[in-house]
Amino acid sequence: MALLELDEIHTFYGNIEALKGVTLEVEEGECVTLIGANGAGKSTTLRSISALTPARTGEIRFRGKDISRKAPQDIVQLGISQSPEGRKCFQRMSVSENLDMGAYLRRDKEIGQDRQRVFELFPRLEERRTQKAGTMSGGEQQMLAIGRALMARPKLLLLDEPSMGISPILTERIYETIAEINKQGTTILLVEQNANFALGVSHRGYVLETGKVVLTNESAKLREDPEVQKAYLGT
Ligand SMILES: Nc1ncnc2c1ncn2[C@@H]1O[C@H](COP(=O)(O)OP(=O)(O)OP(=O)(O)O)[C@@H](O)[C@H]1O
Ligand SMILES: [Mg+2]
Repeated sequence: MALLELDEIHTFYGNIEALKGVTLEVEEGECVTLIGANGAGKSTTLRSISALTPARTGEIRFRGKDISRKAPQDIVQLGISQSPEGRKCFQRMSVSENLDMGAYLRRDKEIGQDRQRVFELFPRLEERRTQKAGTMSGGEQQMLAIGRALMARPKLLLLDEPSMGISPILTERIYETIAEINKQGTTILLVEQNANFALGVSHRGYVLETGKVVLTNESAKLREDPEVQKAYLGT
């Protein structure tokens, strides 16, 4: 049984059918990438999993149990957290306060330990712990959004376009950290338009076109695929 299974999910915004039967799975320990052009439905897939835009039909299973009728906070409590598209940091709150927000459903005593882990993964956040998120650079806010998601201590981490609007050098650093997070045992489902980095860290990938999975393979194979190269790798 895979850790996460999406079974023929259909998700709508009003009358617009953004996902037209998406089926995919993520095994425990894997890093999986979802690539696709603007409007393909990448963010909608992650939003469906997090119940922010719930699927209308189909099933989403986590550890074999249907979670598609659950509320967003229940999804987080089950062990799935998300770093959303556009980062969505709380602009007037400090770095530390943003990280605390990521742990707000937790009642255990290990929150401090996890904050320390985030600081080890992203030393820049520790340097800037009292700085307001809104005054940080785009790349720093991206680190903060990932750190905040990690503060929920997820089993499955969802990342929506971690490279968006960030310089290639910083993107490389962020991707090194994503690989490290995966190596430390967190399963990752990653969404990217810029597929180069994403296919570099992930084990497998799915290609999404207008709400449907059109191709899936090992990441190394997808990188060699001429169609994928032409459409998503800019080569
Ligand atoms: N709030 C909304 N209201 C109406 N339609 C929406 C809404 N959000 C997304 N859509 C539509 O759903 C489809 C899928 O959008 P989605 O945001 O999932 O794409 P994406 O693959 O994440 O694209 P991008 O790479 O631009 O982020 C698009 O046709 C989009 O116009
Ligand atoms: Mg998107």
